[in-house]
Amino acid sequence: MNIILIGSGGREHALAVKIKESKLVDKLYILPGNAGTASVGINVDISSDNFKKIANFAVAKQVKMIVVGTEIPLANGFHDYFFENKKYKHIKIIGPKKDGAKIESSKDFAKKFMLKYNIPTAKYITVSEINKEEGKKFMHSLNQPYVLKADGLAAGKGVLIIDDINDAEKALDEMLDGKFGKASNKVIIEEFLSGNELSVFVLTDGKNYKILPEAKDYKRIGEADTGLNTGGMGAVSPVPFANKEFLKKVENQIIIPTINGLNNEKIDYKGFIFFGLISVNNKPFVIEYNVRAGDPETEVIIPRIESDIVELFLGVSNGTLNEKQIKISPKTAVTVMLVSAGYPEAYSKGKIIKNINKITDSIVFHAGTKYIGNEIITNGGRVIAITSLGNSIEEALKKSYKNAEIIDFEGKNYRNDIGFDLNNKY
Ligand code: AMP
Ligand code: GLY
Repeated sequence: MNIILIGSGGREHALAVKIKESKLVDKLYILPGNAGTASVGINVDISSDNFKKIANFAVAKQVKMIVVGTEIPLANGFHDYFFENKKYKHIKIIGPKKDGAKIESSKDFAKKFMLKYNIPTAKYITVSEINKEEGKKFMHSLNQPYVLKADGLAAGKGVLIIDDINDAEKALDEMLDGKFGKASNKVIIEEFLSGNELSVFVLTDGKNYKILPEAKDYKRIGEADTGLNTGGMGAVSPVPFANKEFLKKVENQIIIPTINGLNNEKIDYKGFIFFGLISVNNKPFVIEYNVRAGDPETEVIIPRIESDIVELFLGVSNGTLNEKQIKISPKTAVTVMLVSAGYPEAYSKGKIIKNINKITDSIVFHAGTKYIGNEIITNGGRVIAITSLGNSIEEALKKSYKNAEIIDFEGKNYRNDIGFDLNNKY
């Protein structure tokens, strides 16, 4: 079977490697891919928003499955485009249609959904220009800090957490005035939850689900979780505080009600659901849903999945996920992200990356990289994820940190404390 994978980050490099391992795969095309995916499959420079061009390419190359790594095409109806056209209907799309993608593309929709199906989440109110005063009143009923979220997709930047009530009121005004464009026409004001965050992923065919390994992501740029939010500076899987009992609560109180809720809403959801969770006194709450796998979580989850992922994807699209097995390695995986100087603010690209070929005991997943001739250069804020497996967090981290020193490019930056909070010994 020929497969297309859409995306260009570390997540897609990890997915590409795993897809290519499958005995069911002939050719793998990555649109547009990066320097890492170029050695796994064939990179093709087609933009993910050009559905027609992707469809023509898929037909020409006899592609039978498209795996969508990122949320924007899904929110814009990528799956619907293929599903609604007779010529393309035979192509299996891994990723929900527009109605299912709404659990990520509208936080207001997601919150209403959670409320309706009794899924634990922070108390909230949705505010637009007409009920702004009601929103401010609600804000005054909460303790600080105040959480404000743009309703729509805002490239991971649409959440503000503000200590001072006057600043929070001002931020609400600015958001409703278009701080995040249309995405903040509606704003969710939420109670702040204090606890440990983690990410849990499932694959679902709409009725059945398989739970993938959980992971913890390190979002802030600075050590000890300080400074600006990033796409993620590292990750660890499994997560020690997410014991069996806690994960059972996640399944019973969150995963099952979500799948049942989607069914009840007549949403035929096929793909990944990412549950961004927080554990408050050992009780799981949903912070957000995403309709794709996480990045850098995928870089620690994929190496722990021992089953054929294309078999699982077939189960997703054929509605037979209950017939498939998923085998997970008990090993610990960690990943450390090397980023460009300045990231997550302005950074420069085009720096030559050296010594990737010297790494033997870690897996190097490329994020923002590309080839110029024979040279691999930086092409994004997050550049390389160095994943290692071990019998403990400590053992895995030692390898990733040794290799983080070896791989080099001008302005290289990384966090030196990934996993430390989970591992007292290190
Ligand atoms: P989101 O884009 O919804 O995942 O939010 C980004 C980050 O903001 C999350 O990963 C949390 O660290 C934080 N956050 C969001 N909502 C809340 C909340 N209600 N309480 C505490 N932290 C939150
Ligand atoms: N690492 C968080 C995300 O992928 O949204």
